[in-house]
Amino acid sequence: PRSIYLSRHGESMYNVEGKIGGDAELSPRGMQYARALPDMVKKHIGGGGVEVWTSTLTRTIQTASFLPFEKKTWKALDELDAGVCDGMTYEEIEEKYPEDYEARDEDKFNYRYRGGESYRDVVVRLEPVIMELERQENILIIGHQAIIRCLYAYFMGLSQEELPYIKVPLHTLIKISPRAYGCLEERFALPI
Ligand code: F6P
Repeated sequence: PRSIYLSRHGESMYNVEGKIGGDAELSPRGMQYARALPDMVKKHIGGGGVEVWTSTLTRTIQTASFLPFEKKTWKALDELDAGVCDGMTYEEIEEKYPEDYEARDEDKFNYRYRGGESYRDVVVRLEPVIMELERQENILIIGHQAIIRCLYAYFMGLSQEELPYIKVPLHTLIKISPRAYGCLEERFALPI
């Protein structure tokens, strides 16, 4: 039976600095995760192999770079676009756009960044990715926090209210296996 594997990219320099969005490279720890990923994936996929899907951003491509499998990049897998807040820390956003900061807290699923996207927008742009996922065999997606949340919520049947708060830690491989009723989930964390 097929499975879908989800992982965030390894820790990026922006993660270290607490900044959102951008197109940063991996940190040294993030590179360690990228190097450790092939063994971990091989251990959990069984015989059939896997196709690897990344976004077009450096941090997911670097994370996938040591995986000896066929790869595909999707613009639709790029991180939620934070618009004018791209490259800022949450503290900077709270200071510069206090009303936006509060509005996002009120309704995180529907809040759309100025010049950017909401979670609802991301769910819509992921539709073609999900359709393709449903047709494919084993797929490993190296994605971003908001993107993995949307995909995870789709397969696990979580609500729009829960979706933006799903915990998706770094350096963790999530395996989702569709069953007759619902999906089976396993998580494998790398102590990096
Ligand atoms: O901080 C990493 C990150 O992927 C940002 O690029 C993105 O804006 C954010 O997480 C999404 O998480 P949240 O919706 O909780 O701010």
